[in-house]
Amino acid sequence: MKIKVFTLFPDMLRPMLSESILGRAIKAGLISVELINIRDYTLDKHRSTDDYPFGGGAGMVMMAQPIVDAIRQNTDPGLRARRIYLSPRGRRLDQGVVEELAREEALVLLCGHYEGVDQRALDSVIDEELSIGDYVLTGGELGALVVIDAVARLVPGVLGSDASSADESFTTGLLEYPQYTRPADFRGQGVPEVLLGGNHADIAAWRREQALELTLMRRPELLDTAPLTDADRALLRRIRRGREVEALLKSHGVEAERLEMRLADQWPKAWFAAFVPEERRKAAKKECFSGRRHVGFLWRAFAMGFAEALEGDAARRAWAEARPDACALCLPDDGLLFRVAGALPDALLDRLGDVALADEAMRRTFVATGRRDAGPYYSISEETP
Ligand SMILES: C[S@@+](CC[C@H](N)C(=O)[O-])C[C@H]1O[C@@H](n2cnc3c(N)ncnc32)[C@H](O)[C@@H]1O
Repeated sequence: MKIKVFTLFPDMLRPMLSESILGRAIKAGLISVELINIRDYTLDKHRSTDDYPFGGGAGMVMMAQPIVDAIRQNTDPGLRARRIYLSPRGRRLDQGVVEELAREEALVLLCGHYEGVDQRALDSVIDEELSIGDYVLTGGELGALVVIDAVARLVPGVLGSDASSADESFTTGLLEYPQYTRPADFRGQGVPEVLLGGNHADIAAWRREQALELTLMRRPELLDTAPLTDADRALLRRIRRGREVEALLKSHGVEAERLEMRLADQWPKAWFAAFVPEERRKAAKKECFSGRRHVGFLWRAFAMGFAEALEGDAARRAWAEARPDACALCLPDDGLLFRVAGALPDALLDRLGDVALADEAMRRTFVATGRRDAGPYYSISEETP
């Protein structure tokens, strides 16, 4: 990749181009960046490069002649270069545009200054205008550096490992999941356990869920064009519903943390194992697993006598008396699992529909099915999962 930058202030760019990843890439010849001083091409004896705008108005405008001559004399007609003027009026740079630019053989980057550039220079030697964002800079040099940096990362070999640019923000169509490095405990702040476990499938699932949730919260419009699988869409539905439930819990003064979907998916089975005594489990599975999943099969286990149950108000009373400090709340229809600090008011339980609650040690559970003819059920088990 060959890049030529046309600027009045080449020294503004030099430090950035000599350090770190860019500096190494240039030294290794993976990209070449040539800085051309537009002032060297002026034909005027005072070497001026700007003049007052025709029609009046504040500031100065860069003259066409030095720009056109500088670009014409420094671009090889045999080399197909995309010629770009950095400008707040331009097409907005994003990762898609960066990927497009990275496929070019060569780039010409023109940096404006003052009030901008004589339109005739743009008409003569520029293919397109590119903006790095909706704000106005004093000059195009920072814009040129942004383009060079973003494009260089996509040139093979510039980053240590090619994989490191593959699953980053925007490249995947989503924002990136949170990253952590050593130590595992930083002044009391830990790291999500799944990242320490070494199970690659679990880690990938956790990262995907985090990326989807971050994108939903911060840049939901990206989801319209991101390449999503059916599983991603299902996950997004659950995340949206999870946020609604969190808001509902909060409005009742209940502090709750939504747990990973991976755990929510494991939970009903773990629950089943915890509340149906071992000697009855095989038969219970045979009877109960064919029907509705989640609370459904647990409820059936209770209803069919595979697990011990209290019913109705007695169950609620028993749960209220147990007063767990923290409990797990499962919403089976939504596939959601929360860790809840403190008890849940009855009124809230009624609004949540089918729920299952367990204290943290999973020794006590409360299942409210939301159906008049079924439950709630309560069971105390000495088993832990
Ligand atoms: C003060 S600006 C000129 C702004 C111009 N008068 C306008 O209103 O569009 C000077 C130069 O900074 C550069 N520049 C300013 N904002 C930019 C942005 N958002 N993206 C890229 N380049 C920018 C351009 O090269 C521009 O010629």
